Amino acid sequence: MTPKILILPGDGIGPEITGEAVRVLGALSLGFEMETALLGGAAVDATGEPYPEATQKLAKAADAVLLGAVGGPKWDTLPREKRPEKGLLGIRKHLNLFANLRPAILYPELANASTLKPEVVSGLDILIVRELTGDIYFGQPRGIENRGGERFGFNTMHYTETEIRRIGRVAFEAARKRGKRLCSVDKMNVLETTQLWRDVMNELAPEYPEVTLSHMLVDNAAMQLVRAPRQFDVLVTGNMFGDILSDEASMLTGSIGMLPSASLDEHNKGLYEPSHGSAPDIAGQGVANPLATILSAAMMLRYTFNEEAAARRVENAVKAVLAKGLRTGDIFETGTTKVGTKAMGDAVLAAL
Ligand code: IPM
Ligand code: MG
Repeated sequence: MTPKILILPGDGIGPEITGEAVRVLGALSLGFEMETALLGGAAVDATGEPYPEATQKLAKAADAVLLGAVGGPKWDTLPREKRPEKGLLGIRKHLNLFANLRPAILYPELANASTLKPEVVSGLDILIVRELTGDIYFGQPRGIENRGGERFGFNTMHYTETEIRRIGRVAFEAARKRGKRLCSVDKMNVLETTQLWRDVMNELAPEYPEVTLSHMLVDNAAMQLVRAPRQFDVLVTGNMFGDILSDEASMLTGSIGMLPSASLDEHNKGLYEPSHGSAPDIAGQGVANPLATILSAAMMLRYTFNEEAAARRVENAVKAVLAKGLRTGDIFETGTTKVGTKAMGDAVLAAL
């Protein structure tokens, strides 16, 4: 069967950066069938919905989805249900993409981009495994109501043990393939939901005797990530804490324009997207960094299509381009060569 990839360029710099990743995927001659559809603000403009039915159908039928980014100031004043972010949350839930893998890797060539001292971050290679379809993000009841004569806002944090177990397994498996250390992050000193989280992680541990499991409270984890980030190999946490910690971890590298991500279901169908946003300020100028999207395509090759060799080829091409001194504006420093989105894509293709 022909492997099917759905491309969702999205908003802002999305079309430019996915364009380069599509060229890279095409160059691998793996026979991918690629189709393009609308998500986010672009979809709102065209159809009135951030995750229109046509996109839903194509997303269900595809083996993998490559997403640029969604959102922008243009849509920030729309009602919550119509905002681009709702499209992103919608596709995550619709495709049951509960496992979000967010690596934070410091490329030696980009060590200066970090705001932390080189001795703190050099060699950094951590993976955050974030639960993506549960927690306070999706919990009911929620809302803003009038109660007792004033406005009252409320959300609900909850996890079933099944939800915790399945993300726990993904994290243990990932740790087993890497440095064999897993740190589970919770707030069990205050929140019952995360006491259950900790209990379930402990119950899973005997199934993975090669992996050393530790626990950390989320406030301490936020602190340890900037104090001594290399103590971590794999971190696993819930949706809300994972949202925050993954942004923090990405900034340890100083170059969020380099970081890919994968969101997987139980059968390794996945949505792949750069960790950065839609950067409306530089959209359409041809200057955005396509490397995080290209590296997301590499994750797609690895996790959905089991094409480890091809994934490595793409990752090595990106490393080669960095070693040559080519930089987009976000990672530029004196002594390197500044290039635009397309030239960066060309260089990766050449290095392939
Ligand atoms: C992310 C983003 C999203 C999230 C927003 C855009 C809904 O911050 O992917 O981390 O909170 O999950
Ligand atoms: Mg986020």
